[in-house]
Amino acid sequence: MATCQRTRFLLPDEVHYLNCAYMAPLADTVRAAGIAGIDRRTAPHLITPADFFEESDRVRVLFSRLVNVSDSNRIALLPSVSYGLAIVARNLPVTQGGNVVIVEEQFPSNVYAWRRLCAEEQLELRTVAAPDEGANSGRGAAWNTRVLAAIDRHTTLVALPHVHWTDGTRFDLARIAERARECRAWVAVDGTQSVGAVPFDVREIQPDALVCAGYKWLLGPYSTALAYFGPALDGGRPLEENWITRRDSGQFAELVHYRDEYQPASIRYDVGERSNFTLLPMLAAALKLVLEWTAPAISAYCRNLTDQVAPALTERGYWMESAHWRAPHLLGLHLPAGLDRDRLEERLRRRQVSVSMRGNAIRVAPHLYNDRDDMDALVDALVVD
Ligand SMILES: Cc1ncc(COP(=O)(O)O)c(C=O)c1O
Repeated sequence: MATCQRTRFLLPDEVHYLNCAYMAPLADTVRAAGIAGIDRRTAPHLITPADFFEESDRVRVLFSRLVNVSDSNRIALLPSVSYGLAIVARNLPVTQGGNVVIVEEQFPSNVYAWRRLCAEEQLELRTVAAPDEGANSGRGAAWNTRVLAAIDRHTTLVALPHVHWTDGTRFDLARIAERARECRAWVAVDGTQSVGAVPFDVREIQPDALVCAGYKWLLGPYSTALAYFGPALDGGRPLEENWITRRDSGQFAELVHYRDEYQPASIRYDVGERSNFTLLPMLAAALKLVLEWTAPAISAYCRNLTDQVAPALTERGYWMESAHWRAPHLLGLHLPAGLDRDRLEERLRRRQVSVSMRGNAIRVAPHLYNDRDDMDALVDALVVD
């Protein structure tokens, strides 16, 4: 079982930061790696051609370990989730009369790409609506069932999150991806709100693409993202043609001997200037922490915290997804009828509890720097007499 790691972070004592789904605070080693990276640029004569490759490959290896990928060349270094999904949109084989399946209120980076694609290629965008809240059980199961029912032999792509970013509903990706494979549809997963906090196994789920922003549950810096691209995207067309993704790009003196071939597997999809001397060492330090703490232990620790507050909040009329279908680390609370939202936000501010309002939900997202005290402060702010 993991223990509280608050001392590894610089969060002020009085702040109850329950908002990793918004942005992770930098841990001590991640911050130090960033400072060292900036300092390194004061002496560029010490930066060698090998430095453009080694840190990138280190990050690929670390992320591939986290999501159980055996060939780290299948990991691409990207600046954002929207960039990764644009790669999928560019390479997806489409046929007229096809459809793309998503769920209601997905994060916009995982919607706008498909809206454009569907408009340009005359595909149907099937948005699977969330069932009514009803009682405190059954909504997640029913939503998953609806997703499965929406996938048919005309489905070209299923583009889903693993955990819904507003309310923490879990999607059973192993089952959904299996159904997609039966229908010969591609599967693209936005793992931003889950990978790092809960186990994700590429070998089990077999997505065609998995894209994760670096600055939330991967504990890394902003403007980084990582993607796994499967064999369906081998030989595909990148968004841009940068020099470093071409074969033998490590031979700097030979770069004007232009090459048509790319580096292996998914490296062709790397963003230009991917060898960022500040951000990549930070991302590597962050991934090392996640691997050291392990996703199962982080998940169990967060589950313990969110389960602690569930009964008191349910009793006060807050709705949350049932225990089985909600993520351990991301608790979406729908407000009780009649509760004044502005007043609630003021109470949270006064108590220095940092959570997010997303869609119809208050999103509570703890990590290893949180403890019982933070959860008590949350309940104190949310329980209005
Ligand atoms: C589910 C999800 N996906 C992606 C992102 C970030 O997307 P992008 O990297 O395109 O800004 C967020 C940010 O909140 C998110 O919650």
